[in-house]
Amino acid sequence: MILDETKILKVSPDLSGEGDIEKIAFAAEIIKKGGLVAFPTETVYGLGANALDEKAVASIFTAKGRAQDNPLIVHVADAKDINNYAFAEGNEKADILMSQMPAPLTIILPKKDVIPLTVTAGLDNVALRVPQNTIARKLIELSGLPISAPSANLSGKPSPTKAWHVVADMNGRADVIIDGGDCAVGLESTVISLCYDVPRLLRPGGFTYERLCKLLGKVEISDAVLEQLKEGQRPESPGMKYKHYAPETRVVLIKGSHAEVKSYLSEKYKSENCGIICFDEDFELYSDRILKMGSRKNMGEYAEKMFDALRETDKICGIDVVYAVLPETTDGISLAIYNRMLRASAFNLIKL
Ligand code: TXA
Ligand code: MG
Repeated sequence: MILDETKILKVSPDLSGEGDIEKIAFAAEIIKKGGLVAFPTETVYGLGANALDEKAVASIFTAKGRAQDNPLIVHVADAKDINNYAFAEGNEKADILMSQMPAPLTIILPKKDVIPLTVTAGLDNVALRVPQNTIARKLIELSGLPISAPSANLSGKPSPTKAWHVVADMNGRADVIIDGGDCAVGLESTVISLCYDVPRLLRPGGFTYERLCKLLGKVEISDAVLEQLKEGQRPESPGMKYKHYAPETRVVLIKGSHAEVKSYLSEKYKSENCGIICFDEDFELYSDRILKMGSRKNMGEYAEKMFDALRETDKICGIDVVYAVLPETTDGISLAIYNRMLRASAFNLIKL
C-alpha cells in the first residue's frame, strides 16, 4: 500500500454522479504511483496495479496471499492495445476474438518484452482482456496504463461480485476500493489460450464455449475445467490447481432431476443442520437456511448469484454443511458454474 489506510470511493455504475470522474481520476493517480486499486468489472471485482511496474505487481501477490506461480490478467481499454503487449499481428484467431471485445473474455498470446515476468509468473505468454464495465474502462483510460488485476478476493475465497465482498477481504490491503455496485455476469472471464495449434479453453466463463466454437471452429476444453488434477499433473492454467472459491462451510454438490432434488433436499432439511443452495422451484419454503438462485430456466441468474451465495453460507448460524444444487447439464454458462462449484466443494458431488 502507498496510502496509510484504504479509501472507499462510491460511484454510480455509469459514472453520472457528481464527482464520480474525479474519484476515478484519483484512483488512476494511485495506479500511476504504484498503488493498488480494487475496481468493478462486468465479471467480478479486480485488484489492479500498473502492469509495467514490477514492484506494484508484486504487491498484488502479497495483498491477496497469491501463489507466486499464478499469472495475472492484463486489462486494456481497447482491443487494439493488445498488440502493444502481445504478438497478435497476423493471428487470424486473435483478430476474430479481438473483434468481439469488450467482452468477458481473456485471450492468451505470446508476450512482448514490455510485460514483466512478474505478471506472467515467469511464462512466455500473457493473458489479456478488455473489460466492458464503464468504471473499469475509465480507470484504465485515465491511468494511461495496462492494469494487471486478479479477482479482488483473498486467495482461496469466493471471487467478489459485490463491493462488501471486496471490503471484507481487501480493507487495509488495497489503497483504494471503488464501490461501483454489483457485477453483472458474476463469474470471472472465459480464458482461452491461442498458444496451441487448436485454441484451448482454460477457464469457462460468461463468453460461452458454444460461442467460441461458432467463431473459431474447433476449440479444445482443458481437462482441468471439469476434472480434478492428478497428483503432480501440471495444469495449463496455473490457477486451476489451487483450492478455490471455498467458503468456510463444507459444500456438497447435488445433481439430479427437479423431482429427485426436491425430495432429497426436503429430507436433508428436516434431518440435518444444513444450509441449501437451490433453484426457486426446488424448495417451496423460505428460510434463512435456504438460498435461492433463481429459476431452473435462467442459469445466468445462478451465475450472477453464485459467489455471493457461497459467502452468505458462512453467515448462516449453526450449519456444518451446505447442499448446493447444480444445473442438470453443462451447456452454456452452466459449464462455468460447474467449474467453480466443483472447486468450491473440493469435487464433492452426489449424483442422485
Ligand atoms: O474476469 C476476470 O478474468 C477477473 C477480472 C478482474 O478481470 N480476473 C480474474 O483474474 O479472474 P484471476 O487472477 O483471479 O484469474 C486469472 C486466471 C488464473 O486461473 C490464471 O492462472 C490464468 O487466468 N492465467 C493468467 N495468465 C495466464 C497465462 N499466461 N497462462 C495461463 N493461464 C493464465
Ligand atoms: Mg481469482
